[in-house]
Amino acid sequence: MKILVIDDEDQFAGELISELGEIVGSGNVMRAASRDSAERMIREQFFDLFIVDLKIPPTDDSIDANVSHGEAVFGYCRELAQGTPICFLTGSSTEPFVTRLLNEHSIAADYWGTEAAHAGVKVYRKLDLADLLAHVKQLQSLFEGLQNIEIREATGQSISPDQKRVLKLFTRRMKGVVCEVTQLKGGMSDASVYKLGVFNGAGRCTNQAVGRIGPVNSLADEVRKFDTNVTALGVGAFPTRICFLTHGAKSTGGIFYRLANEHVDCFADFLVKCPEQLGVLSLKMRDLFEPWIDGGYQRRIAISDLRRQLLEDKVLESLMASFPLEWIHAFEKIEVNVVWGKKHGDLHGGNILVSPAGDPLVIDFGDVDDGAIAFDPITLCLSPFFHPQTSESMLGRFNADDVITLLVTPSEHRDKDFSEFFGGCKIWIDQLICQSPRTYFALIYCFCLRQLKYGDTDKNLAQALIDFSKREIDETLT
Ligand SMILES: Nc1ncnc2c1ncn2[C@@H]1O[C@H](COP(=O)(O)OP(=O)(O)O)[C@@H](O)[C@H]1O
Ligand SMILES: [Mg+2]
Repeated sequence: MKILVIDDEDQFAGELISELGEIVGSGNVMRAASRDSAERMIREQFFDLFIVDLKIPPTDDSIDANVSHGEAVFGYCRELAQGTPICFLTGSSTEPFVTRLLNEHSIAADYWGTEAAHAGVKVYRKLDLADLLAHVKQLQSLFEGLQNIEIREATGQSISPDQKRVLKLFTRRMKGVVCEVTQLKGGMSDASVYKLGVFNGAGRCTNQAVGRIGPVNSLADEVRKFDTNVTALGVGAFPTRICFLTHGAKSTGGIFYRLANEHVDCFADFLVKCPEQLGVLSLKMRDLFEPWIDGGYQRRIAISDLRRQLLEDKVLESLMASFPLEWIHAFEKIEVNVVWGKKHGDLHGGNILVSPAGDPLVIDFGDVDDGAIAFDPITLCLSPFFHPQTSESMLGRFNADDVITLLVTPSEHRDKDFSEFFGGCKIWIDQLICQSPRTYFALIYCFCLRQLKYGDTDKNLAQALIDFSKREIDETLT
């Protein structure tokens, strides 16, 4: 286990480091002698424990030791490594009861994957070093348990030390000893996504999971959205969340979902492989989201507010410099009625898995939020033409006029499969646009405007759909 000792007194630090080295191995204890060098080391390296003298100088060459610099180091630990435990050293004769109170009753978390809670912040008097050393011994034995866990990764992957630690913590939580790891495609968010198989000592696979490993703070947001919104959908509509690991790996954490191992295809695969099933699938998708549709309510808002759901003002300003969009500010003052409620926020074909029986399962909940619900079916039917996974084959088969026909009069399009697909989506959309064609075209306008910001989308198609939507909306003004 790696320990960072932050202390400026050479003699005391030297003795402490040598005692700690006896427990964890001498190469595993590092030292920072000031606030600034501590900050650098906390930022750049991975540690299992910080031992911090409260009274330290601000820089290595200063002698101005002060408790305020120790407090600043506490701030860095919280900001850069909130998942790492800290032991403070104090020279003052704090009432022993106060120290005990803090050590035994401060907020505790599972730092070692054992499900036991350990205090994240402890205080030791420099005079009672034996207590600190006994504590480190206990942590070292917890660490050795983790060390024993084996991560088997496919070749060509690069899993960072923090990510590897999260995987070990998960394996231990699941009472496993080996974790087989395969990186999954996707990875368009700031989390890495891994497929995991956890094995027990008898060589049996006990858990199959998908881990989204990344900065704890952004994962916490996803967990909150999942717990309050996604769980409102029916059983079987989304994968079970197994656990959320927040401590023990610096500032990295992991959300673990049950692997949908029977759902081998995603919706995007059907666009090419079996388009004849798209119509039924789009109807099933509508049914899947029925609890969110039922919870929706009407609001009247300006198109600018609708557009801000997908594209910020400052991005729009930069697009206006590159595309002929000078009419936009006046246009966006027009108002529309929309159904507001829970939406997935990224419902492209890669985020819908499909079982062999043809039942959809939704994944990837980082963008779930309140908003115009109809953006979900709009994304489902229009993203095939813009998403890099499918756009090439779609654009080879359909031009802008085709897409407009599919959107406006789906039953009249010659391609029966896509005619049914768009027809299915239209049934879903019609429930969410308050009987207003103006709302429908405003949603298409917003979706296509957003496509202009990506490097790899077909700008001609986006512009053709934007111009068409504008003309349709202008007609509703007279
Ligand atoms: N629970 C799951 N079961 C099976 N496969 C999954 C699961 N979650 C994600 N995946 C696979 O991993 C890929 C990336 O996951 P996703 O959550 O969409 O992350 P990203 O934010 O990178 O798009 C998905 O496209 C899917 O193939
Ligand atoms: Mg995804």
